[in-house]
Amino acid sequence: MTFHDQIVSWIRPAAYFAQSPLSTFGAALTTSSAITLLGFWLFDLVVGGTFHPYVGLIFFLVLPGIFVLGLLLIPIGILLRRAELIKQRNLPDQFPKVDFSHPAARHLFGWIAGLTVANIVIFSVGSYRGVQYMDSVRFCGQTCHTVMQPEFTAYQNSAHQRVECVQCHIGPGASWFVRSKLSGLHQVYGVAFHTYDRPIPVPVQNLRPARETCEQCHWPLAFTGSKLVVIRKFSEDEKNTELTTVMLLKIGGRAQNGGVGIHGRHLDPNNPIQYVSLDLQRQNMAQVSYVDGSGKKIAFRQTQPRPTTAQLASGEIRTMDCIDCHNRPTHTFQMPARALDDMMAQGAISPELPYIKKQSLAALKVRYPDRDTATRQIAATLDDFYRNSQPDVYRAKRKLLDASIGQVQAVYLHNVFPAMNIGWGTYTSNIGHMDSPGCFRCHDGSHTSADGRTIPNDCDTCHTMLAMEEPNPKILSDLGIK
Ligand code: HEC
Ligand code: HEC
Ligand code: HEC
Ligand code: HEC
Ligand code: HEC
Repeated sequence: MTFHDQIVSWIRPAAYFAQSPLSTFGAALTTSSAITLLGFWLFDLVVGGTFHPYVGLIFFLVLPGIFVLGLLLIPIGILLRRAELIKQRNLPDQFPKVDFSHPAARHLFGWIAGLTVANIVIFSVGSYRGVQYMDSVRFCGQTCHTVMQPEFTAYQNSAHQRVECVQCHIGPGASWFVRSKLSGLHQVYGVAFHTYDRPIPVPVQNLRPARETCEQCHWPLAFTGSKLVVIRKFSEDEKNTELTTVMLLKIGGRAQNGGVGIHGRHLDPNNPIQYVSLDLQRQNMAQVSYVDGSGKKIAFRQTQPRPTTAQLASGEIRTMDCIDCHNRPTHTFQMPARALDDMMAQGAISPELPYIKKQSLAALKVRYPDRDTATRQIAATLDDFYRNSQPDVYRAKRKLLDASIGQVQAVYLHNVFPAMNIGWGTYTSNIGHMDSPGCFRCHDGSHTSADGRTIPNDCDTCHTMLAMEEPNPKILSDLGIK
């Protein structure tokens, strides 16, 4: 059989069987979705702008899906019709000839060839744009509004608000891309049938190792020296007395001169620190081990309570990385007092209003059924307090009060999400040791090695205190900060 004959032997039955209603329907689906898609892309190119996430869902995922479905229906229709005719023993002895000398047939064939090329182009552009859309912050953060609202809100208020979700949650490379799409299917199911956990549990078990995400942008082993940290707090007295802590936090990496800081000590690729934790949240560190400078492996065992050998054997051994300290690098939820202190330090909530810290804290700690009620009641409570107990302030500083109330509401809205069961302290950060055990999961003085060494916990292991909760630390004026 020559090549020409072979083509003819394909075209004839295809043309014959293609007269199936299903194939026609498929062609109609594909054509109409293709025209709509092309129109949308043209609009996007000329007018542009951002779309509502649901509009994106339709144009980037649903329509291309219909387009592909239509394409698939064409051969399916052909095959079904063939099967049906075979079953009815109704196959023609010879397929009708497709007469290419006839201009109509030539035209039709030309159209089909042209449309096939166009379809391949539309399919490629459509799938590229679909993937691009699924990786966008809008898709991840806003499509499933209630589920992602807490993470998205915190993200928007963080230093990482210009880093895409996928840069931490997926990272570069094809295999993680595929993995994330597979776990994505499970999540879509969860959202569709409301089976997802509220709150979403941590740690995220399928999070990619930090080395392949965070370290694409950060290299803290190169940090040198210490970081000056100034923490401003406000008391719950009438004057909201300000107390300032000033310290040098030893965040250095591994310096040339041999000095080692927080990052250098825990991230050293030659002497990694490993641990076995007894809980899923990695809070209860049963054993911590590392290889010291002399090449000796040291295991620090928890002494209070002492884990059993069986417990130790059943635990997973994990090598410490960024996430063990920076578990909340961008979804940072604060405790109410600290969130208020930060707002007051910026002046967004005015410390000039007597008792504002105490009153706001009390209003924030109430358990409200939902965010709308909270917003209303916080305003009502604070307004009532100043109107009744501080009438002079209420008259003289009304504008300041209203602005401050708005910020107290914002503190609530940034941190509490009753629909996802997220309240104060649901997600805590492992940096520090005040709001949660954090560094003290290991540096608590109760992790001891067989030869009697303890993971250090003196107060100047990690920071040098320059002032601790002082009303007016001299060091700040010495440094020219105040
Ligand atoms: C700077 C890196 C980074 C970026 C950017 C980022 N995340 Fe995360 N995300 C994390 C880390 C780290 C965790 C916590 C992992 C853990 O504890 O196991 C997390 C946890 C989550 C969780 C689990 C619930 C929780 O609060 O712990 C969700 C949901 C989530 N992220 C969604 C998003 C969405 C949506 C975006 C984009 C709007 C985003 N993330 C952007 C790093 C990031
Ligand atoms: C795509 C690049 C990128 C990735 C990936 C990334 N970061 Fe960042 N990170 C940044 C940028 C940009 C900033 C903001 C720097 C600034 O504003 O000074 C930042 C800031 C930070 C800060 C300082 C935060 C603050 O509030 O001041 C920490 C800590 C941090 N990143 C940790 C992480 C961790 C942990 C991960 C991995 C889970 C990570 N980053 C992943 C780019 C990235
Ligand atoms: C042992 C705990 C620990 C580990 C592990 C750790 N960090 Fe940090 N990191 C800290 C502490 C503590 C700070 C200071 C926090 C502060 O400023 O309040 C910090 C600060 C930072 C900062 C901000 C520095 C600045 O100048 O403000 C960045 C960026 C950062 N870390 C990135 C990383 C990355 C990336 C990794 C993983 C490769 C990592 N860290 C691993 C404890 C850790
Ligand atoms: C999983 C356990 C673990 C956690 C969590 C942890 N560390 Fe460590 N850290 C260690 C171990 C083990 C050493 C090495 C102890 C030794 O040298 O004997 C160490 C050493 C250090 C050192 C060096 C001390 C020295 O004198 O050489 C500093 C500083 C430090 N850690 C700070 C921190 C800070 C800050 C945090 C919290 C952000 C933290 N660590 C969280 C296990 C941990
Ligand atoms: C293993 C390291 C480590 C040890 C040991 C340690 N700290 Fe800290 N401390 C930190 C880190 C990290 C922070 C967080 C700094 C930040 O918020 O930027 C912190 C924060 C603080 C703060 C400020 C807290 C606040 O209000 O936000 C105080 C006060 C403090 N430490 C006191 C102490 C005292 C007292 C000791 C001795 C009992 C001690 N620390 C031991 C690592 C350590």
